[in-house]
Amino acid sequence: MSIDYRAEIKRLKDKLPVTVVGHFYQRDEVFEMADITGDSLELAKKCKADKNPWVVFCGVGFMGQSVKVIAPEKRVLMPKIACCAMARMIDGSYFDDSINYMVERGIPKENILPITYINSDATVKAKVGEMGGLVCTSSNAFKIIEKGLESGKKILFVPDRCLGQNFANSMGLKSCVIGDGECDPKEADVICFNGFCSVHQLFTLDDIEFYRERYPDILIAVHPECDPKIVEASDFSGSTSQLIQYVAQLDPEQKVAIGTEYNLVNRMRPNGNTFVLSSTKPECPTMNETTLEDLYLTLKSIEDDAPINEILVDEHTVKYANLALERMLAIK
Ligand code: 13P
Ligand code: SF4
Repeated sequence: MSIDYRAEIKRLKDKLPVTVVGHFYQRDEVFEMADITGDSLELAKKCKADKNPWVVFCGVGFMGQSVKVIAPEKRVLMPKIACCAMARMIDGSYFDDSINYMVERGIPKENILPITYINSDATVKAKVGEMGGLVCTSSNAFKIIEKGLESGKKILFVPDRCLGQNFANSMGLKSCVIGDGECDPKEADVICFNGFCSVHQLFTLDDIEFYRERYPDILIAVHPECDPKIVEASDFSGSTSQLIQYVAQLDPEQKVAIGTEYNLVNRMRPNGNTFVLSSTKPECPTMNETTLEDLYLTLKSIEDDAPINEILVDEHTVKYANLALERMLAIK
């Protein structure tokens, strides 16, 4: 007999002291089961405030890890421990190499303030925390970099070069990317690690040109993980929640093409005036790994007292990654 996953998930959610969390990029059928949804910043804040001792997080690894770091008393399970490809581009040793790159080019370590995008492993956040640095997300990066600059130090921004450059551009700051022959840390305010999101690299200037030619009044809205050329050629850039709010306040007849993950954009277009800014389907493979069956099995494992896929973070990492996350959360 086949299992009715939706009915079983609802039964288990009613029975257990558990909160199901879902990022906007999750498959529709999984997203619909979530008690808490939001962009990365909102998810972190809402999970911290939530009272249930169990969290089942439908998203990518760094998101579940961040909940464990800011609320270590919670038991955090992930139906799939799927790792964001960008977060995988940097680990502790690449972080150290980036610091050395700047030191070798004349910037003393004590004059470097690291900021890590939340899309990074907890061990990288811990290194940032130990150096007095902060975490940021796509919705608060402007404020966090602004705060970081108050220290008078050079900002090392990891791992997303696009996010780092986009916010530096919007603040009138000079930025450069490590590994680019032109990158002289002495000449830049924000020095970026060379990481990127392959999903958001799919959007091209040709895509924007295509839509602008076809619908001259169309608006283009993109996530700041897109290349700086794309953000510059767009009308709006923001986090997943900010993109949703932007589209919601438009006249329903206004056409808009969105440059971010497919599941979210598809959910935003009930009236046919919202388009996916790409001829290729921009799917995040890791976000799409989680299925309704995975969610059911994870909840069932709590009922059976044999939890699976639990997120565990060692004490040292929790201590210092928490410092970097709390410094972010303290900035209103
Ligand atoms: P948001 O914080 O905007 O939800 O972004 C998360 C993400 O992974 C975007 O690719
Ligand atoms: Fe990571 Fe990109 Fe997927 Fe976001 S869309 S989770 S940055 S791989």
